[in-house]
Amino acid sequence: MSGLIVIGSVKGSPGVTTASLGLAAGWPMRPGGAPVVAVEADPAGGDVLGWYELPAAGLVAWAAQARSGRSGLSGYVQRLPGGVEVVAAPVEAAAARGAVEVLARGGAVRAAADSVTVVVDVGRLDPSSPAGPLLGAADVLVVLARPVPAELARVVAGEAQLTGAGRRECVLLLVGEPRWPVERVAESVGMPVLGVLPHDAQGARRIAGRPGGRRATGHTPLARACREVAGRLAAELEARPVPLPATPLGVPVIPVGTAGSAAVSRTATVLVPGGAPSREGGGGGWVPSTSVRRDRGERR
Ligand SMILES: Nc1ncnc2c1ncn2[C@@H]1O[C@H](COP(=O)(O)OP(=O)(O)OP(=O)(O)O)[C@@H](O)[C@H]1O
Ligand SMILES: [Mg+2]
Repeated sequence: MSGLIVIGSVKGSPGVTTASLGLAAGWPMRPGGAPVVAVEADPAGGDVLGWYELPAAGLVAWAAQARSGRSGLSGYVQRLPGGVEVVAAPVEAAAARGAVEVLARGGAVRAAADSVTVVVDVGRLDPSSPAGPLLGAADVLVVLARPVPAELARVVAGEAQLTGAGRRECVLLLVGEPRWPVERVAESVGMPVLGVLPHDAQGARRIAGRPGGRRATGHTPLARACREVAGRLAAELEARPVPLPATPLGVPVIPVGTAGSAAVSRTATVLVPGGAPSREGGGGGWVPSTSVRRDRGERR
C-alpha cells in the first residue's frame, strides 16, 4: 500500500528533515510492498544535499520534467549511504520555491504516491506556502513539534487550518519527552499524538550522515523510535478507507448506514498548557484556550 505522508512544523526547527529521513529509513518493508521515498520539498531550501554532499538536487530536475507534462519521480531519486531513497531540494530558497510550487500545485507529488510511499518534508506547515497544496493532498499530515507550551499553543492556534476543520487526518509527532501525559497533550491540542521521538543528538547526526557515537545508525534511540512511528504510519495507510466511487455528478456516494457518522460536527474545548504541571506529574496549570468546531468523517 503506497501513500502520501506530509510532515512539517508550525514554527522553529524541531527536526522535520531529520524525522522525515528517519521515517523513510525505518519504514516497514513488506514483500511486494511499495518502496518508500523521502522527498525534501521545503520551499526554504534543503539540507540533505549538503548533509550528504550530493551532486545535484533531484527536486529541480523532477520539477523541470513535470513542467513539460511528465510527472514520474523515478529518475530523480538518489540512494543515500544506508539505503534511504531521497529526492533532495536545492539549497537556495528561490530555486526550491519554484520547484516545490510546480510539483505541489501540478499534482506530481500526489501522483507519485499512487505507486510509491512518499514521505514529504514541507518545512513549515503554512497553507499559503508553495507546498500548501500538499497539506490537502496528504493521506496523513504529521505536525512535528516540541512539547513545550509555546510550540503546542501554536499548534492549537493552527489546528483548524491544519486539520481542514477536522476533515483531514492530522497527527502530532512530538520531539522530546513531554512533561505531561501524552493523552493530555492530545486532548489539549485536539489532535492524536502519533508518537514521541527522543531528543537524541547523536541519533540525529547519524541520520544526517555524520559520524557520532558507537551505535550503528539503525540502533540509536532516535532510529528505533522512527521505526516504531513509521510502523504506525504504515498501518494507518493500510487502514485507510478506500475512496468512495464518484457519482456522474462527481459527488461521493455515502454507503447506507454510515450517513449518520459521515459529517459529525462537534465543538471541542481546546486546552493549552498555562503553567507548571503538578508534582504528581499531572497536567496542573493547563487552561482552556479556545473552542473550535470540528467536522469529522469527511476525509478525502
Ligand atoms: N530528535 C532530535 N534530537 C536531537 N537533535 C535533533 C533531533 N532532530 C533534529 N535534531 C537536530 O536539530 C537540528 C535541526 O534539525 P533538522 O534540520 O532536521 O530540523 P528542521 O525542522 O528540518 O529545520 P529547518 O527549519 O532548518 O528545515 C539539526 O542539528 C539536527 O541534527
Ligand atoms: Mg528541514
